Amino acid sequence: MSGEKLSVFVTRKLPSAIQTRMTELFRTTLNSSDTPRTREELVEAVQNCDVLVPTVTDAIDADLIAQAGPRLKMIANFGVGVDHIDLTAARAKKIVVTNTPDVLTEDTADITMALLLSVARRFAEGERRVRSGGWQGWSPTAMLGHRVWGKRLGIIGMGRIGQAVARRANGFGIAVHYHNRAPVAESIENELQASYWANLDDMLSHMDIISLNAPATQETHYIMNRERLAKLQPHAIIINTARGDLIDEEALADALIDGKIAGAGLDVYEHEPRVTPRLLELNNVVLLPHLGSATFEGRVEMGERVIINIRSFADGHAPRDRVVGSF
Ligand code: DGY
Repeated sequence: MSGEKLSVFVTRKLPSAIQTRMTELFRTTLNSSDTPRTREELVEAVQNCDVLVPTVTDAIDADLIAQAGPRLKMIANFGVGVDHIDLTAARAKKIVVTNTPDVLTEDTADITMALLLSVARRFAEGERRVRSGGWQGWSPTAMLGHRVWGKRLGIIGMGRIGQAVARRANGFGIAVHYHNRAPVAESIENELQASYWANLDDMLSHMDIISLNAPATQETHYIMNRERLAKLQPHAIIINTARGDLIDEEALADALIDGKIAGAGLDVYEHEPRVTPRLLELNNVVLLPHLGSATFEGRVEMGERVIINIRSFADGHAPRDRVVGSF
């Protein structure tokens, strides 16, 4: 890298401390309005900048990457999921791609547990009832939910976030089961008291609660499709804090409406910010607006990871969080 400051294009508004530091370190273009960049703006950016800093709301697809100019050397994603970036296209153009793992693990696991409890114990419905003035007072039989203690949780995807969910589930007295491409190390299984299921279909029919914690890849696309949803028990609930396209949202709505499953807690959707309209009408569904990593602390730490990744790249080192790199 020459002594000249890198030109960095940031697609969305970031925490102000991060924006300030980025402006000090790089020739940074910020987005103070926080409206997502248009396709034309993204095309212009990739033609002129050295480093693009996108988020999950930007489609960094093969067509966009094909239009990138020779300067674009790095895509430093603000976020851990990189399913909105065509990694194959980036690799072909020798563009380094980094993400921000670790720093949002605990926050996302918290949101998973919040949804799990909300669905099982009907928090959102109860809250709506109080606010609407419809609450008639305590009753021995009103608004009963299900106890989570002693239930079986099946985690799909036992990476960092899945493990953090398992740790929390242990504290709630929930039995931890999981499906993953491969079992985790025995020491981790022992620590989490987790039982591995090589066959996802088998696990599904034995669980009370399912939590999706896998990244969005070709293999996990619709991992909970119509057939798999049909394997769940009628009292089962499903929680998704990973990515929307892990579940067939229309099939999920059908399963909920037909009483094939008991409830769902969603933080992510197939076509964000659009939500399958039928889900909006269901009381046994808790819907959050992609809040997994939405803490002040987490977002600053994500920004710091972005800065560290760009700095190490600028200094000629392999950035620690590279998803695509080492050409
Ligand atoms: C992540 O980091 O992947 C969050 O979902 C936001 O992109």
